[in-house]
Amino acid sequence: MSQHPETLHWHGALDGHVRMIEQTLLPAEHRVIEVSNVKDMIAAIRRLAVRGAPAIGVAAAYGVVLGVGSLPESSSDAVLDAAETSCDQLAEARPTAVNLFWALNRMRSKARSVHGEGATGAELCQALLDEALAIHSSDRDTCRRIGEHGAALLNNDQTVLTHCNAGALATGGMGTALAPIYVAQEEGKNIKVYADETRPLLQGARITAWELSSAGIDVTVITDGMAARVMSEGRIDCIIVGSDRITRGGDVCNKIGTYGVAIAARHHGLPFYVAAPLSTVDTNLIEGGDIPIEERDPEEISSGLGRRITPDGSKIYNPAFDVTPRDLVTAIITEVGVIQNPNQGKMEQALNSAGISY
Ligand code: MRU
Repeated sequence: MSQHPETLHWHGALDGHVRMIEQTLLPAEHRVIEVSNVKDMIAAIRRLAVRGAPAIGVAAAYGVVLGVGSLPESSSDAVLDAAETSCDQLAEARPTAVNLFWALNRMRSKARSVHGEGATGAELCQALLDEALAIHSSDRDTCRRIGEHGAALLNNDQTVLTHCNAGALATGGMGTALAPIYVAQEEGKNIKVYADETRPLLQGARITAWELSSAGIDVTVITDGMAARVMSEGRIDCIIVGSDRITRGGDVCNKIGTYGVAIAARHHGLPFYVAAPLSTVDTNLIEGGDIPIEERDPEEISSGLGRRITPDGSKIYNPAFDVTPRDLVTAIITEVGVIQNPNQGKMEQALNSAGISY
């Protein structure tokens, strides 16, 4: 079984901290940083030191623990207050990946229920650490199950195109979009990957390529504008991407540029797969148009490569995500199975089978 880099983990007991790979420095430098308060966790999520929807969820859950970690001697009411405040603050870190809000809802419900059962401050703090560790550990299992379902869609000697990074660095486990590739590799299949560089922050070139080559997988980096050409040359058998938010209707939000890849895939008759845990499904939304899209600093485009690349007079528009309509999605690969030609009925069936209410 191949070893995957661990994006982040909790270090120590209740008064511990989070250790995470500073992803903004990859691949030039592999630095592990310590995050020990809520403010620094929010900053780490915002600058993409930790990124990718499931990893953001795990980081936010640990962020709540950082908010109460120094309070075990305090009253249960004080710990609950601190947990609620931390949840409110962490929810402002980034707007699009729904796993952030999913994880915070879990932490908030745990805090309220344990407080309601008459726990002491110390017991409440411990329950929150246990809940965050459980969120992390279930994400590990979920990624593997996504990998197993997805690997069944891959044949030996196939080539996958992916966009952004939805690998181990983006999750608490082996990834979502990259998990089928890792499991296929374990099964002895020879799978090659084309990684879109993913402008403007280059998660594909910097992180996916680093992660895949470290795992011994043949990876070729292309610029985003080359994807359609590479498909037309017959180099690609299927596309697998991750997601930041999937609506109950089956529309898929992912890194900016994904929608164009899906259109090109349809034109070339190639399967377009989305791999994501059910925690990425926003059960409150049906239409992709209702998903809030993060708009990031224009500097990421104007000075993204370490020097000014646009003239002073030009305006910049920098949406970080786009939405691929369900009609362009061949299937969504989840931990409970593969949802072919997703629509509201099939999404609800999958949610029901996992006991998720909506
Ligand atoms: O801005 P990022 O790097 O957090 O965007 C990440 C993506 O778009 C991923 O594809 C998505 O979160 C899925 S990660 C398993």
